[in-house]
Amino acid sequence: MLVNMKTLLEKAEEGNYAVGSFSVANMEMVLGVIKAAEELGAPIILQIAEVRLKQSPLEVIGPLMVAAAKNAKVPVAVHFDHGKTMEKIKLALEIGFTSVMYDGSHLPLDENIKMTNAVIAEAEKYGAAVEAEIGCVGGSEDGSEDIAINCTKPEDAVRFENETGVDALAIAIGNAHGNYKSTPKLRFDILETVDSLTKTPLVLHGGTGISPEDFVRCSKTGIRKINIATATFDTVESTVREAYNNGSINGYYDLQSAEVEGAYNNAKKHILIFGSDNKAKE
Ligand code: 13P
Repeated sequence: MLVNMKTLLEKAEEGNYAVGSFSVANMEMVLGVIKAAEELGAPIILQIAEVRLKQSPLEVIGPLMVAAAKNAKVPVAVHFDHGKTMEKIKLALEIGFTSVMYDGSHLPLDENIKMTNAVIAEAEKYGAAVEAEIGCVGGSEDGSEDIAINCTKPEDAVRFENETGVDALAIAIGNAHGNYKSTPKLRFDILETVDSLTKTPLVLHGGTGISPEDFVRCSKTGIRKINIATATFDTVESTVREAYNNGSINGYYDLQSAEVEGAYNNAKKHILIFGSDNKAKE
């Protein structure tokens, strides 16, 4: 069933686990992720970022994501990731996304607060939740920019919470989008401080390449939403490649099945690490 992201994150807060937020680019990925969530009884979030709309137009994939969520046997929130323009954010809300992210992490804090509040005012008309980001997560969602990591200042998180009342807050603690060039060293000291000073559910971007131990530690320290994108795309691609190599693809529908299987295996692995399995009914 289609649900508001706020509800999912509040339950994750009560149960002390994190909800997987999986980026998708086509129907096969949507079906694979939902299959894993249904099998494990896990609430999930389906998301697509604004930079990915070149390949997957929002007008086409958006309604597909919403329909798949409505049809699912588990709670699914549909989220617009890294919204950069009010135009696309409004379109996502119009299509029925139950949450949107406004990414003002590159802006001075005052400006980020002002823009986030404008997005909150818009999202309220649809009863949708809003995620924002402060500090700067490294890299970019489509790998086109090598943005340096700028860790979140705890005092900024407190001010941001007080002045926006945002529903979810992405923080930068040494995490980055895409495949890490070296093993990430997360700043748990910053996470612990932000968690102790704020009540807002926290979000970890750049999930691909973070170790299971670090994921677990994050999910026990206030991280309630974990974004996974590159791992999904890489797993889908490698599953298809292997299927071709071992001769198990004989025609288009075998290719389609391999894509669903890749997305399914990747989502399943992460849901189990995040501890959100069997939480759909609670
Ligand atoms: P990865 O591509 O590193 O998994 O990051 C995903 C993400 O944070 C999307 O917003």
